[in-house]
Parts: sequence; C-alpha cells; structure tokens
Amino acid sequence: MKTIINIFLFTFIVSAIYTGIAQILPQIEGKPPPKVEFGANTSPEDLAVAGGDIFETNCTQCHSLSEPGRCPPLGNMGALAHSRARERGPGFTDVDYLVEALCKPSDYLVDGYGDIMPPQQRAMKPGQLQAVVAFLQTLGGDATLKGTDIEAFEKFGCGAVGGGGDGGGTAVATLKPVGSPEEAWAEFGCEGCHSLDTDEVKTGPTLKGIGGRMEKWEILDAIINPDATIADGFGAGMMEGAIAARDFYSRMSGKDYQAFVDWLSTK
Ligand code: HEC
Ligand code: HEC
Repeated sequence: MKTIINIFLFTFIVSAIYTGIAQILPQIEGKPPPKVEFGANTSPEDLAVAGGDIFETNCTQCHSLSEPGRCPPLGNMGALAHSRARERGPGFTDVDYLVEALCKPSDYLVDGYGDIMPPQQRAMKPGQLQAVVAFLQTLGGDATLKGTDIEAFEKFGCGAVGGGGDGGGTAVATLKPVGSPEEAWAEFGCEGCHSLDTDEVKTGPTLKGIGGRMEKWEILDAIINPDATIADGFGAGMMEGAIAARDFYSRMSGKDYQAFVDWLSTK
C-alpha cells in the first residue's frame, strides 16, 4: 500500500516539476530543456536532468561549477555534501545539507562567503527544488533523491507537496522514442563530427577514451550545453545547432541521457 501511495505522490510531484518547467521554458534561450517522460518509474536521474536546466537558469549568475568567485564553485557538491553534513551534526544527511543550503542558506555559511544567497523556495516550487537537489548530488556523486523523498524539504520549511497548486499537468508530448545509445549516436549525427574508436580528428575532437578524461557529469554537460566549455583547439557554436536540428534535445529523455552518457563513458 505504501508503495502505491508513494508512486502516486511521486507521479504527482514529477508532474508538478514538468508543469513548472513548461512555464520557464520560454525564458530559456534557444533550446527546450530535455523532455522527461514521467510516471511511476521516473528515476533520480530524470530529476537530475531537469534540475540541471533549472540550475542553468536560476543559479549560474552566481555559481559556476569550477571558478571560485563571489560564490563557492559547485562542481564537487555531490561529494562535498556528505562531509558538510557531518560538520552540521548527527542526523544530517547529504540531502539535508543540500536542502538547507537552498532553503535556509543563512543557517550555515560556507567559510569565506557572505550571506547573499536568496532562499530558493520563493523562486521555485517544491518539485523544482527536488530536481535541483538531485542535480547537485550528481556533481561528484550519484543522484539518490526520489520524488517521494520529501522529509528533508519539510524539515527546512520548503516541503509542501505540489505547493504550486498546479500539479495536474500531464500533457508532455510523446515523441518517437530514442533507441539504444548506438542508434542515437548514428541518428543524431554524432559520427559525422566525432570518431569514437580511433584518434581521427573530424570537425570535433575524437571521443575515444572520453570516459578516462571526463566525468559523467562533464560529458552530460558537454552534450546539453556544448558551448559552456569548449574543447581546446575547437570552435564553439557548431555542435548545438547541428544536433538540435535533428531534434536531439526534444527527443532525449532523462533515461536516454543516462544510458547515452553511461555508454560514452565506457569509450
Ligand atoms: C546571489 C547569488 C547566489 C545565487 C543566485 C545562488 N547562490 Fe548558492 N550560494 C551563494 C553564496 C554566496 C554561497 C556561500 C554562502 C552560503 O553558504 O550561503 C552559496 C552557497 C551554496 C551552496 C553550499 C555550497 C557549499 O560549499 O557547501 C549550495 C549547495 C548552493 N549555494 C546552491 C545554489 C543553487 C542550486 C542555486 C540556484 C538554485 C544557488 N545556490 C543560487 C550565492 C548564490
Ligand atoms: C557539427 C559537428 C558536431 C556534431 C554533429 C556533434 N558534435 Fe560534439 N563537438 C563538436 C565540436 C566542434 C566540439 C568541440 C567544441 C566544444 O567543446 O563544444 C564538440 C565537443 C563534444 C564533446 C566534448 C569533448 C571534449 O573533449 O571536451 C562531447 C562529449 C561531444 N561533442 C559529444 C557529441 C555527441 C554525443 C554528439 C551527438 C549527439 C555530438 N557531439 C555531435 C562538433 C559536433
């Protein structure tokens, strides 16, 4: 029974997230966020992918993943959250710490930084906060947060389920499913610009050995935001347009991204 309730709640929350995303969609320049088909089997990875988009729009004016500045870099936040949690005291989990950092930022200031981060529950619905937490977990770690995990959000006063009141949205268009990573690689034209098993340099760098030089989140980021970091010696602006024109971004679901990145990282 509990599972059924959880699945229901989860579906509800995830619906709320994507309704929210549909609303911020027009503000994201250029490309739509990855579509995620939600339902009882929606995974933490799907949440994380949605959270990555929210991060781009709501957080990058202050935080980068790697450059220290006015705000701490968050590239290793998934791993760091565990040690911060220990610092915060017994009973704190990594998720608790991340939720606290988002909803009650003044309660704990990272050494050397000012109290300037706005509490995020004013700008985001609970489901969106969950997506961001799952995304932060993937930075140096793995996403474990599920849509049903709401205790930490309640603990820090940002947990009213479906607080936006519009959790009913279920109308995400179902697009032609993407096949296996190999099929996606061929279908979206990656092969035209990248070699995978040889050192040959085409329009883009070879991705041979990519798993050895890039973390999974870096690979995902290189695909979702090709122009955010440019591989040495190559030009910006080519890849994103080329794969967007083949509907890459609108057809890949969270699960597809995960399978694709897992596959690439074995290369
Ligand atoms: C106005 C600038 C600003 C914005 C916008 C902002 N932050 Fe922050 N954030 C900070 C500052 C400054 C700190 C360090 C002080 C503190 O701990 O609050 C911080 C701390 C954090 C920490 C803790 C870092 C650590 O090393 O423990 C996390 C996690 C975090 N922010 C995530 C986010 C996320 C996710 C968003 C977007 C949803 C966001 N922040 C938006 C300024 C900002
Ligand atoms: C029109 C040519 C083109 C297409 C098509 C293309 N890419 Fe790229 N890609 C590039 C170029 C140029 C770069 C280097 C510039 C940059 O980092 O954005 C790059 C960079 C990358 C990187 C980062 C590599 C590194 O060493 O930092 C990854 C990963 C990647 N592409 C994956 C893909 C995947 C997966 C596809 C298919 C879905 C794809 N690319 C399709 C041109 C392309």
